[in-house]
Amino acid sequence: MHTHLAASSVLSHRARASQSSVIRELLKLTEQPGILSLAGGLPNVDLLPAGKITEVAEAVLSASASSALQYSPTEGLGDLRSAVATRYQCDVGEVRITTGSQQGLDLIGRVCLDPGDVAVVEAPSYLGALQAFGACGAEIVAVEGDQDGLRTGSLGSQLAAGLRPKLVYVVSNFANPTGSTLSWERRVELATLADRYGFLIVEDDPYGEIRWSGEALAPMRTLTENCVTLGSASKILAPGLRVGWCIGPSWCLDAMTRLKQATDLHTSSLDQSILCGLLDDRVFVDGHVAKVIARYRGQAAIFSTALRELLGDQVSFADPQGGMFLWLTALDGSGSTRIFEAALSNRVAVVPGTAFGSGARCEQSVRVCFATLNEADLLTAAQRLAQAWPQSRP
Ligand SMILES: Cc1ncc(COP(=O)(O)O)c(C=O)c1O
Repeated sequence: MHTHLAASSVLSHRARASQSSVIRELLKLTEQPGILSLAGGLPNVDLLPAGKITEVAEAVLSASASSALQYSPTEGLGDLRSAVATRYQCDVGEVRITTGSQQGLDLIGRVCLDPGDVAVVEAPSYLGALQAFGACGAEIVAVEGDQDGLRTGSLGSQLAAGLRPKLVYVVSNFANPTGSTLSWERRVELATLADRYGFLIVEDDPYGEIRWSGEALAPMRTLTENCVTLGSASKILAPGLRVGWCIGPSWCLDAMTRLKQATDLHTSSLDQSILCGLLDDRVFVDGHVAKVIARYRGQAAIFSTALRELLGDQVSFADPQGGMFLWLTALDGSGSTRIFEAALSNRVAVVPGTAFGSGARCEQSVRVCFATLNEADLLTAAQRLAQAWPQSRP
């Protein structure tokens, strides 16, 4: 006789408490035919370097199949760790490879956060981080951000009043979802606070190389030892490789490596070998990143010009200096969910700000990604959004 298991008798508290992200549910709607999607944070397919990856994969498989197809160390292939250390100017001992930077977020959450521990994030924040920290049972405290990133003055006041986070999470450059960059003054202040109050800064930086104006700012890890920086091949090369990295102090990275063993033993040896082959060709990678920058810069300009012409004073947004996102804030009282719904019925998809947090900044805003669609579709998407906008007014 078969016993039918009930979810409540077998699934853990953690599994039962977990929910599919709002974004993933929304993205299903946005995948319907005929919809132009500004919703996903997907790189433009023209920029996925398929030819070069084919060439490198063939070279890897003919020269070193016995290692590329074999099990490999949990901390990552030595050659790839060295290539990352060279590109991002750190010591190879400070580098560990992860299966995308998303795995870095999951592992950091699990090594640092016990149920009830406090994780500070910016409001609004990258959903994948909220999910990873939330799954650990952490209390997520959102501190308001603005054009210059997390308001460190407000964080400082809350710390002085007794807030004791284990970690503070920031997307330091061209943040997902707001596009904002943490200013130099705030980087210095955040590092000082981390040293004074003893928390770990988790600096997530998948977009930092995609800068077309303004001055590049040094990573937070150069300002304090209490910082782990996450990087990724996803936005500069290809997200399907699923390779990211962490740079930070060994007490944290070694604990992450111990948990990673049980998670996936190691990141795909083949994918790591391919990425290593790509990074070893510095001229190619630098040239490719320059192409990504030029393309997204052009697309951002076309899209923001169209939005300003079509929506005028109904919406405000900052001109991006890099990255993939615009954060559109309604000036006419339109709410984020209603903009999302009106846009979708007009066959264009955006992400409501409420998917990334709560509060006024999220409730009146939507995130759009200008990277994925080509120029003609971006213009049509802007027109559809402008037609939909009046329907979202209260
Ligand atoms: C801020 C941020 N962090 C991390 C990730 C995860 O990237 P991946 O796991 O592909 O490296 C993303 C993806 O969109 C992101 O926007």
